[in-house]
Parts: sequence; structure tokens; C-alpha cells
Amino acid sequence: MRIAVIGTGYVGLVTGVALSEIGHAVTCIDIDPKKVERLNQGEPTIYEPGLQELIQKNMANHRLAFTSKHKIGLEDAQVVYIAVGTPQRPDGSANLDYVEQAACDIAKNISRPVIVVIKSTVPVGTNFHIKRLINGATKDGIQIDIASNPEFLREGSAVEDTFNGNRIVIGTENPAAADILEEINRPFGIPILKTDLASSEMIKYASNAFLATKISFINEIANICEELGANVNEVARGMGLDHRIGSKFLKAGIGYGGSCFPKDTNALVQLAGNHDHEFNLLKSVIEVNNHQQVLLIDKILSRFGTLKGKKVAVLGLAFKPNTDDLRESPALVLIPKLAELGAEITAYDPIAVTNAEKRLDERVTYTENVTEALRGADCAVIVTDWEDIRRLDLSIYSRLMKRPIVFDGRNCYNLSKVKKSALEYYSIGRPSQIPELIQ
Ligand code: UGA
Repeated sequence: MRIAVIGTGYVGLVTGVALSEIGHAVTCIDIDPKKVERLNQGEPTIYEPGLQELIQKNMANHRLAFTSKHKIGLEDAQVVYIAVGTPQRPDGSANLDYVEQAACDIAKNISRPVIVVIKSTVPVGTNFHIKRLINGATKDGIQIDIASNPEFLREGSAVEDTFNGNRIVIGTENPAAADILEEINRPFGIPILKTDLASSEMIKYASNAFLATKISFINEIANICEELGANVNEVARGMGLDHRIGSKFLKAGIGYGGSCFPKDTNALVQLAGNHDHEFNLLKSVIEVNNHQQVLLIDKILSRFGTLKGKKVAVLGLAFKPNTDDLRESPALVLIPKLAELGAEITAYDPIAVTNAEKRLDERVTYTENVTEALRGADCAVIVTDWEDIRRLDLSIYSRLMKRPIVFDGRNCYNLSKVKKSALEYYSIGRPSQIPELIQ
């Protein structure tokens, strides 16, 4: 099958590369010529384990190409994926400008009927709207079919998720289009669910909203555990053993971030509101998450009283490990607050420092060396559970810091290990350790 993919962001690039890997001839189109140039040199424009190898392999096989010219990418395509961004508008709704622009580009440049597949996360009803938009603007009255095929990959494990997903959802109006998409996706060997358009669009929002709900739920349980002296990790383990609940996405912490959960939960609240439905449950999920992101500040303040002139090591900037993505990262909330309170901040991240420098105005010293961040610090605040932070020998905190006081927003360390160390340790939903000697 000859496939064009519009947009080489996270979803578009991984989708295009994966489709070429299973044997299709794919041309990825992006309006940014600099991105296209890098990709044409076999260099991924995002950090994603395993992606570079697949790009280079499939370019060498002549199954994968990149272009900034819609005409070149679309002329021969049989199927066109739209995988452009749908950023959040100030009112929380999804901005469809890029999707609509892609639709116009398709209408202008196709020379035969194609199936247009929307991968971008779009509000219910968008697929229908885009179909009408394209069909009303094509040359010679060419009519296209539309399909919704939402993406369920996670950043940092996008390649792995694409080849080992739990389901592929295909929403169409026309069974013939659904059959073609099923054929395209069959080599992935992943169960395929065929639905109508609106249900497919809703599956994406409902899935992200449900996962966000699990996280806010366990974070609330964690906050209650702290009051009651229980350990949220044990509670989550006990809950997760019930298969009806499941153990995934029950990791308490400083709240969810990233380009998806915050945006999609807001968009679903907005979408429901447009139809006079107050989605109170999801509104609470969002509120709990906003509160969770600043909880550590209260803990730090009640320990120190003031942060004026205190050296604070922030460990981790990315919204989660294995990505350099800072979008909606709790670090973006915590660092300005710490700075406002007068803290001198040294922030460590193995790969997100460059992005952080662009995003944060506050006076922060950045480092890619954890030792440098900890040296002479009054306290350390763990924001991202990077593997190297989890694996630190706990004695490093005592050796390098003024006092080994750690606020762990990701529950990185086993409490039994912490007990054997000299750490003064505050985590989320677990008993704190305050060694008598250093109290
Ligand atoms: C999420 C979904 O997991 C994907 O299925 C979906 O395709 C994607 O959004 C999207 O809509 O594009 P992603 O945002 O990449 O993927 O990252 P996750 O691994 O889901 O983590 C999101 C946030 O939740 C992170 O900040 C993470 O630290 C936090 N989280 C996750 C928790 O606090 N606790 C958990 O138990 C799990």
C-alpha cells in the first residue's frame, strides 16, 4: 500500500516508520524543511528508543521517504494519515487549525479517491467534519473516505507500544474502508476493533481520561495514607492484584503531565460541556492533579520555614523518564514556585536540559551531572523517576549535600533501604523517615 503521513511529530513519525517497517511504502510530509532535512539524513527529530534504527533501515529499503512538499507526498498515495497536533485552546478545547490545514492540503493535491485516516486526537464529530471539508474542496469532485484510527502509544516507549499494543481501533462509515485499514494493520498482529466514527473518536478520549482518573485516584489515596500512616505502594499492590482493577497506572506521585493527559482531559470536559453535560468526575481528576503538582512545596516549606538562600537540587525535568519532553511537566510548576520562594536551584536531567533552558525563565543552573546538582544542596527534590536516579547509591546524598534531605515526588526508593541510610526522606503516600540524629 502507498501511504502518506502528514505531520512528523511524535505520532506521525512513529506511525510512518512503523507502517514502513511492516512493508508499506510510506512518505512522511512535514511543512518544516529543517525537520525533513534531518529526517532525510536518517536522524530522528524526537528522542525515542529504537526509532533511529528503524528510520535508517526502512530508508535504505526505499520504503520510507520524507518531504516538505505535499504534492510529492500525496500524488500517488492510496491512504493518507493526518497526524498533526491538536493543541489546547485557552478554554481547554482542542484547536483543529492544523487538522483543517492538512485537510485543505489533501484536497488540493490528491489525484484519485483516497482513504484519509485521522490519527490526531480530535473531538467527536471531527472526522465527519474533515470528510465534508475535503470532499467539498477537491479537484474534479474526487470523493474520499474517512477513518478514525486513534493512537495509544506512550512517549519513551512509542516504538515498543506500536508493535505490541493491546488494540488497534478503526472507526469508519464505510465497511470497505474499514476492511482496507484492517488489511494495512494486519501485519502488526494486534487485535483490531472496528467501530463507527464517533465511538472510535470517543475511545481515545475515554481511555486517556480513565488512565488520568486512575492516577488522580491513587494520588488522593496516597494523600490520605500519609494522614493515616499507611503506605500507598502496599495499598496499590493490594488493589492491583484484583484483575478487575489492574496494577497499571496506580503509581502515586506528583501528578501526571505530558502532551496528552492534561490536554485530553480538559478537552473532554469542554466537549461534554458543549453538550450541556457537566463532567464533574473528570473535573475533579484535573483539580486533584493540579493540587498534587505543588504538594511537595508545602512539605518543603513546613520542613524549612523559608527557602530564602537555600540550595535546592531538582532531580529530573522531563514529565516522565526516557523522554526530553517537558510539556506540562510538574517541573514547570515546581521550579517557578521554588524560585519565587527564594531558593537557589540547580536542576539535573540527563536529556531535557536544552528544552528546559528554552521553557523556564527563572534563574536556574542546569546540569546533566547529578553529582553537580547535589553538591552542597540543602535539599533534593525528585521530579522524574529516571533510572539513574532510582539506582543512586543513597550514600551519595550524605556525601554531597549539606544534609541529606530528600523530597521524593516519585517514590523512587524502597523504604527499607531508606531506613538503613542516613536520609531524611519525604515521599508521596508513605511514612516519612526523620532520623533522630539529624533532627
Ligand atoms: C499517554 C497514554 O498512556 C498513551 O496511551 C496515549 O497514547 C498518549 O498519552 C497519547 O494520548 O498520545 P504519555 O503521555 O506518553 O501517554 O505518557 P504516560 O506513560 O501515560 O504518562 C503520563 C503521565 O502520567 C506521566 O507524567 C507519568 O509520570 C504519569 N503517571 C503514569 C503517573 O503519575 N502514575 C502512573 O501510574 C502512570
